[in-house]
Amino acid sequence: MANGGAGNRFIFPKWSNALLPFLIINALGVPPFILVVAVFALSPRTTDVGYMPTQPVEYSHTLHAGELGIDCRYCHNTVESARFAAIPPTQTCMNCHSAVASKSDPDKLAPVKQSHETGQPIIWRKVHDLPDYAYFSHAAHVNKGVSCVECHDRVDRMDVVYQAETLSMGWCLTCHRDPAPNLRPREEVTNLAWGMNMSRDELIEFRQELKDQYDIDLSPRDKDQNMTGRRDLTSDERREIGEQLIKRYRIKSRPFMESCTTCHR
Ligand code: HEC
Ligand code: HEC
Ligand code: HEC
Ligand code: HEC
Ligand code: HEC
Repeated sequence: MANGGAGNRFIFPKWSNALLPFLIINALGVPPFILVVAVFALSPRTTDVGYMPTQPVEYSHTLHAGELGIDCRYCHNTVESARFAAIPPTQTCMNCHSAVASKSDPDKLAPVKQSHETGQPIIWRKVHDLPDYAYFSHAAHVNKGVSCVECHDRVDRMDVVYQAETLSMGWCLTCHRDPAPNLRPREEVTNLAWGMNMSRDELIEFRQELKDQYDIDLSPRDKDQNMTGRRDLTSDERREIGEQLIKRYRIKSRPFMESCTTCHR
């Protein structure tokens, strides 16, 4: 599976790059342009979902981001300032691993130690890869309250990272047309469990925090009075929060969000 995926991802964009001049010529809004969009929007590529290359080190996000609770930005420290999310250098690992060994199997850290001693970087294999003609920016999303979890799913529960979403144009546009249910306070973007699996008391506290810290109102639900189990925020509640954030963060209007030149520049 992994090899097949890798093949597709590199061959496909080459011929589709040839479409770009066509795209620009037609960018004035003539009918063939609409045809192109219709054809491509209706055929999302799904071949890369689940793509999970084997990495040179058995590094686990479940352990580091989940159990140890290290914030994503400790390692991916450019997500708020740049298009790309930096992959950490060996030195970041050594901040801990010059002192912390693996209890289960010391060999697992051998490639990290070797990289540190030789100065040769660890060659991590890229999981996500958009074609070059599509413009993407982490900072643009993260600073407007779009969490990593909306695009990468629960990385804090992945032993090996895989691609969770298609990253097709149709997928991008679905959110761009209606971002409200996908927004959260920007301070919470790396809290992947935000708004999830809450008991009645935790919900009460959550509402209060929304109000106190972010000045967001969330209407109470009568049903919650007698709630015994746990629940996630509903999509209606996400929308209610999101609508307030759209105003606060001045999220751009739908014409900009759908415009070809927003993502193809
Ligand atoms: C201790 C450092 C560290 C922390 C903390 C960390 N990561 Fe990573 N992350 C890495 C390393 C190293 C890689 C490259 C190896 C791999 O893919 O597993 C990576 C890869 C990734 C990738 C795949 C990148 C690609 O190649 O496309 C994603 C997505 C990702 N991390 C998201 C997250 C999220 C979300 C969090 C917070 C919940 C997080 N990471 C926390 C070190 C870290
Ligand atoms: C904030 C501290 C911290 C940082 C930063 C950190 N680790 Fe770890 N790592 C730990 C701890 C704690 C353990 C668990 C050790 C144990 O008890 O076995 C661990 C375990 C591991 C293991 C062994 C897993 C196992 O199954 O035994 C590997 C491999 C590893 N880390 C790789 C990395 C890599 C690669 C990086 C940099 C991208 C990194 N770590 C960054 C704290 C850290
Ligand atoms: C709106 C969707 C979206 C959000 C939100 C998002 N990512 Fe990504 N991420 C992507 C896409 C798309 C790529 C592939 C980019 C490319 O190939 O140019 C990517 C790639 C990455 C990579 C590989 C390096 C790179 O930039 O290509 C890492 C690491 C990563 N993301 C981590 C994160 C972390 C951590 C967060 C949250 C702080 C996050 N991402 C939020 C969509 C997203
Ligand atoms: C879960 C929702 C979501 C997904 C998925 C998503 N976006 Fe966005 N995108 C947003 C929001 C919200 C903004 C912020 C608009 C603003 O600045 O007001 C944004 C802004 C942008 C911008 C504008 C940056 C600028 O110039 O200000 C680009 C470019 C972009 N997205 C590209 C993409 C691409 C490409 C994909 C798919 C690979 C994607 N987005 C997927 C929600 C999303
Ligand atoms: C929100 C971001 C976004 C917007 C807006 C957008 N695109 Fe795209 N487009 C993408 C991404 C991402 C890809 C790459 C999809 C992939 O790799 O599967 C893409 C791919 C394409 C392709 C290559 C064929 C394909 O599907 O792989 C064409 C042609 C294209 N877009 C035309 C357009 C036109 C015309 C518009 C304006 C109506 C437009 N796009 C608006 C993000 C966007």
